[in-house]
Amino acid sequence: MPRRPVLADQAAKESVLPRLPTDLPTVMIINGPNLNLLGCRETDIYGRETLADIEAACVARAADLGLAIDFRQSNVEGEIVTWIQGARDEAAALILNAGAYTHTSIAILDALRSLDVPVYEVHLSNVFRREPFRHKSYVSMAATGVICGFGGLGYQLALEAAAHQLGRAEMRPSENQA
Ligand code: DQA
Repeated sequence: MPRRPVLADQAAKESVLPRLPTDLPTVMIINGPNLNLLGCRETDIYGRETLADIEAACVARAADLGLAIDFRQSNVEGEIVTWIQGARDEAAALILNAGAYTHTSIAILDALRSLDVPVYEVHLSNVFRREPFRHKSYVSMAATGVICGFGGLGYQLALEAAAHQLGRAEMRPSENQA
């Protein structure tokens, strides 16, 4: 199984790969079709942030939260299914933006149902304000929770949710004083 997605800008990608100790819980973050085009694709809907920007922000947030991340993207449904299966052994939680497969893929739903780790479904756009075919999500049927409409921030919110559920949430200063 390839450990890393092939992105157009591999050089930029290498520069933001996590360099975290492996004893931290790993959150696998899987991005589906066309998300490699973020920043130039339908910018009126998805904005100018690239997937590399989102990955860099996730790396920084995960470090704050005491998590490691494994960030991937594929345009191939079967590859995403294989990665989800791999999360059974390799991840403590899964963040998934399955792109258009969200609305079509029973194979991804079945793979998610094989997991016993929390699954956070993320969408950059508010899919419920868009075409009716985007209102149906197979991913939601297996997700712990759903975050949509906050752009790239949604990934960080999902990381925060994962940190809470994995018991890694940061202590707030007020909680530290006791
Ligand atoms: C998306 C929403 C999907 O409907 C669409 O097919 C995408 C991106 C989002 O992040 O808003 O590719 O998952």
